Amino acid sequence: MIEEELEPATFARRIPHGFTIGAATAAFQIEGAVREGGRGESAWDTFMAEPGRILDGSTAAIADDHFHRYREDVALMKDLGLDSYRFSLSWPRIQPGGKGRANREGVAFYDRLLDEFLAAGIRPMATLYHWDTPQELQKAGGWLSRDTAKRLGDYATLAAEAFGDRVDMWVTINEPTTVTLNGYALGIHAPGEELLFDALPAAHHQLLGHGYSVQALRAVGVAGGIGMTNVHSPVVPARDRVTDRYFASVFDTVHNRIFADPVLLGSYPKPPFGSGRLFRALTEVDSEDLATIHQPLDFYGLNYYMPTRIRAGSPKNGETPDGEAERMKDVPFSLVEFPEFAKTGFGWPVAPEYFGVALGEVAERYGEALPPVYITEGGVSYPDARSPKGAFHDARRIDYLAEHMAMALDGAPGVDVRGYFVWSLLDNWEWAAGFSQRFGLVHVDFDTLKRTPKDSYRWLQAVLASRPAP
Ligand code: BGC
Repeated sequence: MIEEELEPATFARRIPHGFTIGAATAAFQIEGAVREGGRGESAWDTFMAEPGRILDGSTAAIADDHFHRYREDVALMKDLGLDSYRFSLSWPRIQPGGKGRANREGVAFYDRLLDEFLAAGIRPMATLYHWDTPQELQKAGGWLSRDTAKRLGDYATLAAEAFGDRVDMWVTINEPTTVTLNGYALGIHAPGEELLFDALPAAHHQLLGHGYSVQALRAVGVAGGIGMTNVHSPVVPARDRVTDRYFASVFDTVHNRIFADPVLLGSYPKPPFGSGRLFRALTEVDSEDLATIHQPLDFYGLNYYMPTRIRAGSPKNGETPDGEAERMKDVPFSLVEFPEFAKTGFGWPVAPEYFGVALGEVAERYGEALPPVYITEGGVSYPDARSPKGAFHDARRIDYLAEHMAMALDGAPGVDVRGYFVWSLLDNWEWAAGFSQRFGLVHVDFDTLKRTPKDSYRWLQAVLASRPAP
């Protein structure tokens, strides 16, 4: 973006009154204190302890120590001027073991946290499930077991009873795509299953869990709006060939459509011709399940990071955007690079124009069935270097955020975009990449845990402060 457009007062003029600007995090990536306050273990506690699972061999045992430093973190959010903050409730902290009564100490932590947000004038958006499945449920099959969906609904009731008066917006589940593909199909996230298409029951059960959770939140009568979050990646064929187009449509089905269609339309998509067998676990489900999944929503959460390019033929290496997956070698297509775009620290293409494509696809596919949309995550990792004076001049992140926020603000015909949440407030523990990818507006020194706002934080702060009063 050109310099003048980045000028905070100029950029602020693009933001209409009522458009929410927030930042997002997830419990397991920031809280630490994994053995405190009666927290139970999660599937990620087990996974990160296995040799070779995490790129830098780190664990999230301390992460950002947000559990102890939450006051300082909320002060940073307030100083930044956020309208809203998206965080996740830790299931194993609230309901260790994933069954039974709530853990008083866990509930007390989120009570303190919510009160701190409200005192700071920040509207809380709470995600119920951001990947930390209680280990006991994991041992019993995790998302391959239908029972886990029921369990999520029960936990939603506990959360609704405890926090329903203060949460402004509820997200039931975050990116079931990523849990299914990385966790159950390719084995690069917890629980490390490598089932390829046999992972699809994990998708169905998460979606069912979403449905039960919406029902639970509504039954308790929570004050806030209710939605869920999917990550949408526009999928394009690498070459203008029938085989590339075919596998692009298979990937679009497995990455995007099977997660959005049942939630918004109440049905699974028709598999691309000839691939019906692969999707049988979904196309043969009971219509009652689809009715449970298809709940009226107050909003739809969309995460956008990047497009995906598909080429027919098994990959030589098992490259995926989130790291090497041996099992990719067993699929008949590959995920290939976009040489025309710059890359993030993760190697992901920087392609704001595809964010526009994502919005257009969602509008075209779901039309009237699409509730107002919040971009519940968008952001970028770069290896930010400390300047001699101790500052973090992350000009590339400012550019990335400005270009992507501009896309959200411009929207697309047929989509009512109501807000944008930056991933992430803090540098944090990036799942299988450990501490190697920094997405924060605030730098965190993982040795001393010192927080230092980066230039991108200062830029966003200036933008937010320059918005005209309503
Ligand atoms: C997830 C976050 C993650 C981010 C960057 C999203 O898929 O919801 O937890 O840190 O992407 O990889």
